[in-house]
Amino acid sequence: MKRDPRLRRLSAEHHHALVLARRLAELVGDGRARDAAHQLAERFDRELEPHFRVEEDILLPALRAAGEVALADRTAADHGYLRALAAAAAAGRSDGVAAFAERLTEHVRFEERELFPTCEARLSSAILDAIVGEELDERPSSTPAKGRGDFPTLPSNVQVYRTTDVFDETTLPAGLRRVHTTRAGVWGRVEVLSGRLRFVMAALDVDAVIEAGGHGIIPPEVEHHVEPLGPVRMRVAFLRASSTMEP
Ligand SMILES: [Fe+2]
Ligand SMILES: [Fe+2]
Repeated sequence: MKRDPRLRRLSAEHHHALVLARRLAELVGDGRARDAAHQLAERFDRELEPHFRVEEDILLPALRAAGEVALADRTAADHGYLRALAAAAAAGRSDGVAAFAERLTEHVRFEERELFPTCEARLSSAILDAIVGEELDERPSSTPAKGRGDFPTLPSNVQVYRTTDVFDETTLPAGLRRVHTTRAGVWGRVEVLSGRLRFVMAALDVDAVIEAGGHGIIPPEVEHHVEPLGPVRMRVAFLRASSTMEP
């Protein structure tokens, strides 16, 4: 079946990922595992992490909502495994590079053969539209929080550099429930994957409910806290200006 045009950019990135996996396996085979680890770490941050985020932010919540939970879970598990190996490579460990290359290859095949055909068959046009032009900043397609106060919007020059684990109402750290701030220069994006979350930022007169698929933006150093409203799954992405990204 021909790929929906709106998924073509991600498909093209899959092609690059396969080339990268082959290259990494060759380097390991040539006894150059350290070079491979270095390339892996660098290319992961620049190419794969943003790609994963688009899939996780747009496709997976929509697939879960459409009942395709197993496919979404497998994708998320693959991403987690690849992220862990990429972090090890960035920390100078080269013993996971071969496993990374193998899993990345399998993952891309899985997405091309199963995930994307299911997205084309099951997801609404609006969801597929949201992929086009996705630049890891605020998307007009995402659900704004409902409540008092207008959320600030992200500046266009910030990028995600770290994302927390997914927390639920039982695992949400106490530090996030208490009033706290992000550091200077660091923006936060509270992302609600399922359920509902109260989000309070008194200084900006925000007291809102973020619903599944929605998010709230936290400017640097602004006090805020969150409160689960029943069962919820959420995480926080941290963003900063590209020029302040660590090398
Ligand atoms: Fe992908
Ligand atoms: Fe993926």
